[in-house]
Amino acid sequence: MRQAKVFERVTIEEVQAYWDRRPCNIRHSPKPIGTKEYFDEVEARKYFVEPHIPRFAEFPRWKGKRVLEIGCGIGTDTINFARHGAYVTAVDLSEKSLEIARQRAKVYGLEDRITFIQANAEELDRYVPVEPYDLIYSFGVLHHTPKPERAFAQLRQYAHSDTVLKVMVYHRYAWKVLWILLKYGKGQFWKAAEWVARYSEAQEGSPVTYTYTTKELKALLAHAGFKAVEMWVDHIFPYRIADYKQYRYVKVWYFRWMPSWLFRALERRFGWHLCATAIPISR
Ligand SMILES: C[S@@+](CC[C@H](N)C(=O)[O-])C[C@H]1O[C@@H](n2cnc3c(N)ncnc32)[C@H](O)[C@@H]1O
Repeated sequence: MRQAKVFERVTIEEVQAYWDRRPCNIRHSPKPIGTKEYFDEVEARKYFVEPHIPRFAEFPRWKGKRVLEIGCGIGTDTINFARHGAYVTAVDLSEKSLEIARQRAKVYGLEDRITFIQANAEELDRYVPVEPYDLIYSFGVLHHTPKPERAFAQLRQYAHSDTVLKVMVYHRYAWKVLWILLKYGKGQFWKAAEWVARYSEAQEGSPVTYTYTTKELKALLAHAGFKAVEMWVDHIFPYRIADYKQYRYVKVWYFRWMPSWLFRALERRFGWHLCATAIPISR
């Protein structure tokens, strides 16, 4: 696989430095970072632009349950699991992101429900005690680590027989991939791994961004001891970037004129987020 050749040699320190420089979604609000107003706006913007997240995470379902979140970033989903009554262990590689996530838990009075741990998902059991969780959740994370199969292989030991695993990784056959290759890559499809990584995030230059087909993700899950019970593709970002940065939601012309049923059909076929719900394969 060409992607592995490109990304495997990236060090975990490079990945951490990238996310410490600009934690994910940190500019989702112009309000002072760390305030309630800031966190409220970050959440509103995230779920406005990515409305499939609450559907995927099913926050209320985990009330009173134990949730292990891999790659919590600044904690938007973490807070929602806790707010709905779950007990959450949330890990991330980026200390800077965790600092903000911890402050967020404090602002909402949810500190007693969340344990934050700085950890590399590829060696999770070095940092997180091996105990069973009811939900293992990771949204947009495992494709950013140099050796994702190592991170996936860590998960089974945190599962009991009824554990649910929910993972989102980026989709290869996505509108966004085509858009990046045409806009920035000048059609260099043979260098797709490099171009996609460079422009996959809000901050240019992500050192590692794998993309997967449904078949590849299924195989990765099976190799890690999980069977996918539901897989679907979602999310096309339809807004003009310049306006979006100014907190205005103006769609690019071709999406503005597209009927919503067609846009939705495109999202379900060529979306950027490949979401999987899986269960452990019984031993
Ligand atoms: C795109 S952000 C997603 C954050 C969060 N899940 C969300 O949806 O807002 C990716 C996150 O993955 C984390 N990450 C990348 N590689 C990791 C690793 N090996 N172990 C733990 N976290 C990692 C980054 O630090 C970053 O916070």
